[in-house]
Amino acid sequence: MSRTQASVLGLIALACAHFARAKIDERDFDAAGVIERDVAIIGGGAAGTYAAVRLREDLNTSIIVIEPKNWLGGHVDTHVAPETNTTLEYGVQSYMQYGPTVALFERFGVEFGSFTSRRLATLNVDVETGKTLDYTAPALNDTTEGLERWLQFVEKYDSLVEPGFWNFPSPDKIPAEFLMPFGEFARKQKIEAAVPRIVTISGVGVGDLRILSTLQVVQAFGLAVTKGVVEGTFIQPKVSNSLLYQRAYELLTDDIRLGSTIQETERDPTGVRIIIQSENDQVKTLIKARKVLWTPYPSQGNLKPFDQDAKELQVFEPWTPEWDYVGVASIPCIPENTSVQYMPRAVEPSDHLAIRDHPYFLTLGTTGPPGLHLFRVMLGANFSVTHEEAKAMVTSSVQKLVEAGTVNHTGHCEVDIKALSAHNGVLWPRGSEALEQGFVQELYSLQGHRSTWWTGRSWCEEYSSNVWAFTETVVERLLKSL
Ligand SMILES: Cc1cc2nc3c(=O)[nH]c(=O)nc-3n(C[C@H](O)[C@H](O)[C@H](O)COP(=O)(O)OP(=O)(O)OC[C@H]3O[C@@H](n4cnc5c(N)ncnc54)[C@H](O)[C@@H]3O)c2cc1C
Ligand SMILES: *[C@@H]1O[C@H](CO)[C@@H](O)[C@H](O)[C@H]1NC(C)=O
Ligand SMILES: *[C@@H]1O[C@H](CO)[C@@H](O)[C@H](O)[C@H]1NC(C)=O
Ligand SMILES: *[C@@H]1O[C@H](CO)[C@@H](O)[C@H](O)[C@H]1NC(C)=O
Ligand SMILES: *[C@@H]1O[C@H](CO)[C@@H](O)[C@H](O)[C@H]1NC(C)=O
Ligand SMILES: *[C@@H]1O[C@H](CO)[C@@H](O)[C@H](O)[C@H]1NC(C)=O
Ligand SMILES: *[C@@H]1O[C@H](CO)[C@@H](O)[C@H](O)[C@H]1NC(C)=O
Repeated sequence: MSRTQASVLGLIALACAHFARAKIDERDFDAAGVIERDVAIIGGGAAGTYAAVRLREDLNTSIIVIEPKNWLGGHVDTHVAPETNTTLEYGVQSYMQYGPTVALFERFGVEFGSFTSRRLATLNVDVETGKTLDYTAPALNDTTEGLERWLQFVEKYDSLVEPGFWNFPSPDKIPAEFLMPFGEFARKQKIEAAVPRIVTISGVGVGDLRILSTLQVVQAFGLAVTKGVVEGTFIQPKVSNSLLYQRAYELLTDDIRLGSTIQETERDPTGVRIIIQSENDQVKTLIKARKVLWTPYPSQGNLKPFDQDAKELQVFEPWTPEWDYVGVASIPCIPENTSVQYMPRAVEPSDHLAIRDHPYFLTLGTTGPPGLHLFRVMLGANFSVTHEEAKAMVTSSVQKLVEAGTVNHTGHCEVDIKALSAHNGVLWPRGSEALEQGFVQELYSLQGHRSTWWTGRSWCEEYSSNVWAFTETVVERLLKSL
């Protein structure tokens, strides 16, 4: 075949490929409505903001960030109490001194100090009735010993999972402990006494903790966070957790589209085209990029306008959705400096592994300046909960305390929800079956597929520091593919 013939055939093939897939017509957009960049970053939370700073500022790569909310920061939620003008963190609380964390704070001039959690008296109540439970929590010593055993375990296998699961062993070589149901593992390794602490910090296992594979608990509570707890080395920005993101926004403003959602996407090995719409001006913009970096949780709802192919659908469809809310509420009838933990009666008298044997959990813990009766709300459910339903669940759960006589109050307790944010997500398929069928390898084989790279808490351990460390490894590979 002559070179001319080959290139003519090539052109026809290209034209056909183009014809077959073209839904997005560039002629629908005027020049001002088209943005061309090296990388389109979807989501401006921990992962997206970090990637944006690294790519644009350090790696000479042009970017655009698409974020539906009107601020950057994702799970960081800061509430300002107007009475005293003090900031309350009701989303992300603290950070580990791991990976790029300290350097990132320093880079943005965010002063930080060690994080100390407030001392609260715990009140364990029956999630169904609000009555005080006859539950004996583990002694501090036992918790510490359990955590130290867990630390040894996660330390041993850290290189398989951090930063990221790039080197995760093939199914036949996965350590047997990872595949074990967590309930069995915890009993065998005698870490039950550490379970309430692991669960309260990570929120893992709503519905039933024991059926998770131990690997999923590692993903929720790996080495860096365990060390932070055992050594007491968490840190927290002095002004607010939002400051880092405010400063990143100031730096990158021109390349960030807030209040914007994806309408339509086309992805193939040559690049991506994404139509976004901004809530403010209703104008549609076409983004043409060589690569896209996806950071939000990959639920079917989120991925709907992202042009999933069969390979991606097969990986993402079986994930388990979870509904989580965090907030701040004024609750006058709960005594100050208390943490109310709503738990299933199955924990009585001291079955720590039963702590999540209920379709939802709720924690209300004193926060903010003394005297205001403010509580941080944490609600997690294994069934769909809307914003309004979450509010109603908090209010009725408080009323249960009054009715059961658990708190001293007569009549209705006026709960005033000051702030509430959804932190919903999707989790890897539960149990060990998917892992034994090569789930991790299939997930990671999506990296780079169709000009698309993936990061965020769904790909690694779920804390900001882990997400930043992992994002660094993705950015490195993405750059090589440009
Ligand atoms: C209750 C709770 C408390 C936590 N506390 C801590 C803590 O104290 N310390 C810690 O280190 N970690 C904590 N985490 C873990 C937290 O997940 C990580 O810190 C970090 O926020 C994860 O970063 P991310 O970029 O993956 O996700 P996020 O920070 O959630 O960012 C995702 C971004 O994508 C956007 N987005 C969502 N859907 C779409 C869409 N369809 N299209 C475009 N954009 C979209 C979101 O608006 C968001 O800005 C906590 C998590 C929860 C749920
Ligand atoms: C940055 O990228 C531009 C365009 O890709 C290139 O022309 C320039 O040489 C690069 N600069 C550096 C310092 O690498
Ligand atoms: C509230 O605090 C911030 C930050 O400390 C300060 O800049 C602001 O002026 C204060 N506002 C009021 C009303 O006191
Ligand atoms: C707790 O552990 C320490 C050291 O491991 C031991 O000295 C101490 O007696 C223990 N305390 C209780 C109450 O068991
Ligand atoms: C939710 O949790 C309940 C109780 O722990 C359990 O019976 C139910 O099967 C769970 N539902 C889902 C969808 O996992
Ligand atoms: C709660 O604890 C704070 C210190 O964290 C203290 O100042 C305040 O007086 C306490 N409130 C009550 C009612 O004991
Ligand atoms: C309720 O009041 C009684 C009597 O004043 C007191 O003994 C009890 O400790 C109080 N309970 C709570 C939860 O504050």
